[in-house]
Amino acid sequence: MLSEVEAFTASSLHEVEEFRVKLLGKKGDVTLLFDEFKHVSGDVKRELGQKINALKTAAQTRISELREALDAGNAPTLALDASRPGAADSIGTRHPVASVRNEILAIFRQLGFAVAEGPEIEDDWHVFGALNFPPEHPARDMQDTFFIEKRAGSDNPILLRTHTSSIQVRAMERQPPPIRIVCPGRVYRNEAISARAHCMFHQVEGLYVDQGVSFADLKQTLLYFAKEMFGASVQIRLRPSFFPFTEPSAELDVSCSICGGKGCNICKGTGWLEVGGCGMVDPSVLRSCSIDSQKYSGFAFGMGVERIAMLKYQARDLRLYFENDVRFLRQFFLVND
Ligand code: DAH
Repeated sequence: MLSEVEAFTASSLHEVEEFRVKLLGKKGDVTLLFDEFKHVSGDVKRELGQKINALKTAAQTRISELREALDAGNAPTLALDASRPGAADSIGTRHPVASVRNEILAIFRQLGFAVAEGPEIEDDWHVFGALNFPPEHPARDMQDTFFIEKRAGSDNPILLRTHTSSIQVRAMERQPPPIRIVCPGRVYRNEAISARAHCMFHQVEGLYVDQGVSFADLKQTLLYFAKEMFGASVQIRLRPSFFPFTEPSAELDVSCSICGGKGCNICKGTGWLEVGGCGMVDPSVLRSCSIDSQKYSGFAFGMGVERIAMLKYQARDLRLYFENDVRFLRQFFLVND
């Protein structure tokens, strides 16, 4: 009986209670043994008493073990169903920002662009100076900067990069043309955090410098990208704009993939969505990086990864991309590479 008690198992608290009543209840087996024990004669009484007590303790131990296991939601060990299929390990999913970035890079790789990266902690020269932002120029206000260190006696403070255009400067300083790169990375701006703005986000910057590069090459490259990213029926529009490092400069819009250009609340009724900036590299930027601006020309463009992710997945609050709430992230399981 002792081994039976020790091996007993149950799959519900109800079964445990039945087991308790059967053994320890008023008319339970162990209780009855104690009743009979009263009539046993002296010499066997001691030995029998020990055995019945051991049985009672074993029953109580097994009952509390089973109750604990069932309360904690674990199946009691002896009730393991070995034929049950195993639970698969959760392998996680790629973050939507990483997966959109990878998709953007893959499209430009098809066109022969190489991927280049650079530091997030930069200096003023690579983020502004070489890109034709003169000191104190109001264009610097377009990008509210986090300064880290204003070095005494130097006009080149250390800061967090506000755009990945700093990588194009590093690439042009490092290698002679032809240069054809895409530069992904995280950037920082001192902005109040809201559904539409964050103090950090991700960009992919592109740069192509060679002999005879024209605005037509830029437009065709961006059209190819838009069709690969948003579908063959998409159209692009270049709106005149200003950036210190490009001349002429333009804002890149794509036709709204949600309403097909008819006008909806995502594109605010215009039929167009803004995805980034672009232009022909200003000759003075080439000269700052010791490239012969008479011989070479180039185009550049930059786009926000979260912006494209928001258009693709229609998640309207930018903060969702940085909170790492698994309920949000798990939704991207099927769309990830
Ligand atoms: N760096 C710009 C920004 O962060 C985006 C940009 C615009 C990049 C035009 C470019 C460009 O290369 O040509 O707002």
